[in-house]
Amino acid sequence: MNTREQLLALNDELRRLKSEGRRTVSISESSLDELRAVLADAPEIAEEPAARTAVRENEEITTFVPTSVAAPAAKPAAVKTKPALSPRADIALPQGDKATQWQALRELVLNDPVCRERVYKGKQVVFGVGNLDASIMFVGEAPGADEEDLGEPFVGRAGQLLNRMIKAMGLDRSQVYIGNILNWRPELGVRNADGSQTGNRPPTAEEMVYCLPFIRAQIAIVRPKVLVALGKTAVDGLLGAERFKSMGAARGSWHDYADTPLRATYHPSYLLRQEGLVSASAKKIKRDAWEDLLAVMERAELPISDKQRNYFL
Ligand code: URA
Repeated sequence: MNTREQLLALNDELRRLKSEGRRTVSISESSLDELRAVLADAPEIAEEPAARTAVRENEEITTFVPTSVAAPAAKPAAVKTKPALSPRADIALPQGDKATQWQALRELVLNDPVCRERVYKGKQVVFGVGNLDASIMFVGEAPGADEEDLGEPFVGRAGQLLNRMIKAMGLDRSQVYIGNILNWRPELGVRNADGSQTGNRPPTAEEMVYCLPFIRAQIAIVRPKVLVALGKTAVDGLLGAERFKSMGAARGSWHDYADTPLRATYHPSYLLRQEGLVSASAKKIKRDAWEDLLAVMERAELPISDKQRNYFL
């Protein structure tokens, strides 16, 4: 989908929600930032009649509720037909080596009744993958269309970019660990006849709170040297939604997650939306993302060549 089609799809979805009587939707700060950036970068799109409607809808976003882990939004955007989620207790891992613990945790998550109930029929709960001795662990937001089909995180377009980022760091996907804050694809409430869903939404605070023990337990098993939070949802989930107002505020310095250094960087989907854009801001975003990864490499004590230092994503 190109930017115009994405905007039109967003517009349609906002209209649909409005026609159902919904006056507010839950939207993360990072998604808002992305929307503003798309519109700022594409004045020709903002001039289109349909896009103007989207912009007008966007103006209403001042009344939208930012997602918050610390204080769940009064009206989370969870699909109304599903029962409310209660936070689940932290997970007690079984005795044994990393592989034993990981296997037990994977079984628990894949069979978790709440996860199974939230997954659309025929689609899959998605658990983390990778090297249990990885120095670097990437944490994303939530599965998308390809991930819910294949049951593996980051296997679609964003995943292909993540693979290229990992390669640029001198590593292979099999040498790192990759997980998500959420283990199912957030439902918009409407599926196409073939079971596909047009568009994604960020997880609600309630959904994140439910799944957080799963990613926390994966971090406890892998014990990476460095955590990389991909996008604001991962930052909010791991560090608390109240810590940073935007990705801009979260990235560029080191944070601490349970004694593991954490670096925040832009989500690959956001970076994908910069591809092909020639504006100075798009270039800066890509340069900043690579600088985040250089910092991660340094912290993980990976060798860095001159070519890598001068590389641009
Ligand atoms: N985006 C994510 O945050 N996670 C995935 O697994 C895929 C896309």
